[in-house]
Amino acid sequence: MNGRGPSHYRVGYGEDAHRLEPGPRLVLGGVDVPGAPRGPVAHSDGDALLHAVADAVLSAFALGDIGQHFPPGAAATSGKDSRDILRRALELVHARVPHAVVVNCAAVVTLDEPKLGDHRAAITASCARLLRMDPERFGLTFKTSEGLATDHVQARATVLFSLGD
Ligand code: C5P
Ligand code: MG
Repeated sequence: MNGRGPSHYRVGYGEDAHRLEPGPRLVLGGVDVPGAPRGPVAHSDGDALLHAVADAVLSAFALGDIGQHFPPGAAATSGKDSRDILRRALELVHARVPHAVVVNCAAVVTLDEPKLGDHRAAITASCARLLRMDPERFGLTFKTSEGLATDHVQARATVLFSLGD
């Protein structure tokens, strides 16, 4: 750990799921994914990946979860751009630890269709920009559910923070 002890790091984990229906646009990591037969039903834009990442960010510092800071029924949450949710989560972290930086993030999106591989670079760049981190340290994995969970999109994310130099 470069001479730093484990107390120099914080790890967080988050996950999210949204039911899919014909109609809503599919947004993942702040990127519009074209050609999706169904999109997420949600109060916000239903970006399951950013919701999982934002929960991971909050959990690294035991700051609760996005439901506390963005209640699902609140008018301010309706149609909300989930990039703002992640930005706010990072603000809360920086209010607690000003020099905390994201070292590494690993995320998995489970969705049967459409295939997401063509969008990996755009989604990775968008997430990394929001997290203010090197995109080469953002690992993004796509999985199908093998037809076992076709009715929803699922995302999981782990984030590692360094508390600064
Ligand atoms: O779930 P499974 O292992 O069968 O997925 C095979 C591959 O398909 C994944 O490793 C991933 O590269 C890709 N995939 C994708 N978009 C999805 C689901 C999977 O590009 N929505
Ligand atoms: Mg969500």
